[in-house]
Amino acid sequence: MLNLVLFGPPGSGKGTQSAKLIEKYKLIHLSTGDILRGEIAGQTPLGLEAKKKMDKGELVPDEVVIGMISNKLDANANATGFIFDGFPRTTAQAEALDNLLTKKKTAITVMLSLDVEKQELVNRLLNRGKDSGRADDQNIDVIENRIAVYNKETAVVGDYYKKQNKLQLIHGMGSVDEIFDRLSKAIDKAKN
Ligand code: AP5
Repeated sequence: MLNLVLFGPPGSGKGTQSAKLIEKYKLIHLSTGDILRGEIAGQTPLGLEAKKKMDKGELVPDEVVIGMISNKLDANANATGFIFDGFPRTTAQAEALDNLLTKKKTAITVMLSLDVEKQELVNRLLNRGKDSGRADDQNIDVIENRIAVYNKETAVVGDYYKKQNKLQLIHGMGSVDEIFDRLSKAIDKAKN
């Protein structure tokens, strides 16, 4: 199986690149942000609880997102691989993911970490906020908090994969196609 973690701060291009990578490598895209927004749209109890955190740019509790990923892995038992986008975001989530994959006799192949300058992140998110309807894209304070939470709570997950020799840093500035080429080269190298 080919199992990728697409990592990086808010606005680094995880969702954009995932959409292209699933086509090329025939993978299932698991985005915890998308799953949570689906719960919000469906006005489920989980969604209503998560919305309070997401609107402030804070993380949803580990047990909630780990449970969601566990269900999605079970629901896609015949998949040839996954892209994890926006997950894991804490070391506890990374450990839980390793345990879930071990039970399925597989593992993460590589973590691809998109490196993008902070001002570019802010510009991209504010730009999307003009018409995306995402509450967390429309307020500079919330965007700043999302980036601060990433630096404080999530960046450390890179070290977790570095210790396993699975971290690949990818320059995340430039056109979508240029970045896609860099990601594809790193994936082709990692899977061989
Ligand atoms: P989530 O949905 O994961 O959002 P995020 O990490 O903040 O990332 P974004 O989706 O905003 O950015 P992205 O890196 O995917 O970039 P994108 O391709 O969209 O999480 C939202 C919230 O949910 C969290 O704050 C948290 O509350 C909760 N949550 C989710 N997962 C969680 C977890 N595991 N644990 C706890 N809580 C969790 O691109 C952004 C914009 O830039 C787009 O408009 C795009 O068109 C544009 N763009 C992309 N590439 C380029 C480029 N090369 N040049 C110019 N523009 C570009």
